[in-house]
Amino acid sequence: MDNYQRREFVKLSLASFAAVALQLNGLSALGLNANKFNGFSGTKPSLNWEAFLEEISKLAKTQHTKNWNQSEYIKAVQMVLLQCNFPEFDNFKKATANYKDVRKNWFEHELLHKEIDFQISLLQFEKGEYISHHDHPSMCGVIKMVTGNALVKNYSIHELLEKEETKTYGDKSFVLKSCLIKKENEEILLPNKISSLTESEGNIHSLMPNEFTQLVDIFTPSYNEKSDKETKWFTVNETEPFDGMNNIYEAQYLKSSS
Ligand SMILES: [Fe+2]
Repeated sequence: MDNYQRREFVKLSLASFAAVALQLNGLSALGLNANKFNGFSGTKPSLNWEAFLEEISKLAKTQHTKNWNQSEYIKAVQMVLLQCNFPEFDNFKKATANYKDVRKNWFEHELLHKEIDFQISLLQFEKGEYISHHDHPSMCGVIKMVTGNALVKNYSIHELLEKEETKTYGDKSFVLKSCLIKKENEEILLPNKISSLTESEGNIHSLMPNEFTQLVDIFTPSYNEKSDKETKWFTVNETEPFDGMNNIYEAQYLKSSS
């Protein structure tokens, strides 16, 4: 009886072994996949930092392909961002634990990751630390609100005008150029919500935090000397639309100074 049982056991084991061996590749893939997740955020598992970086890095490489579709890229980055729970990440915990409101009336910036193709930043604001209208030439960006909320407005260039104005302050002169911008979106961005801009749509934005606010942004490609130099800041006449045109506003930006 003992022998029979042992023989049956061996027979069963050999059959099971073959079946298990066939599944080994699948099991190993599942194991790797499981390692991408940090645990559970609500009902959904959230990506860990390494897996998050890997996903964004893979997506950001598409910017070098012919006919790169920025809108599709932005959507894909959004999907990845929605799988992240930043407060679980060690680098995020460290950056937020070390937070000090060093620059009065201006946000604090912490670079979480930077490579040529993209960069990821944590921005922390006290209530009212307003970022006025500015653009991101040759870049696209995705913002995920983590804590707090902010009024975010996005505009696109509608028309460049010939109109110029020179203003003198002390011994300095500034030439301001006019343009018309189109409001694409205005919303109060709440935690876990996303705001985005592409090179051609919503590239000009402003942000007013209504309370202490933390957000993460991903810009593609990352900032460089050229993009820093080309960024424009706009003074927008938001009191009324230009010439009664729906969602169109007149704005000025600095053309040159001497
Ligand atoms: Fe910006």
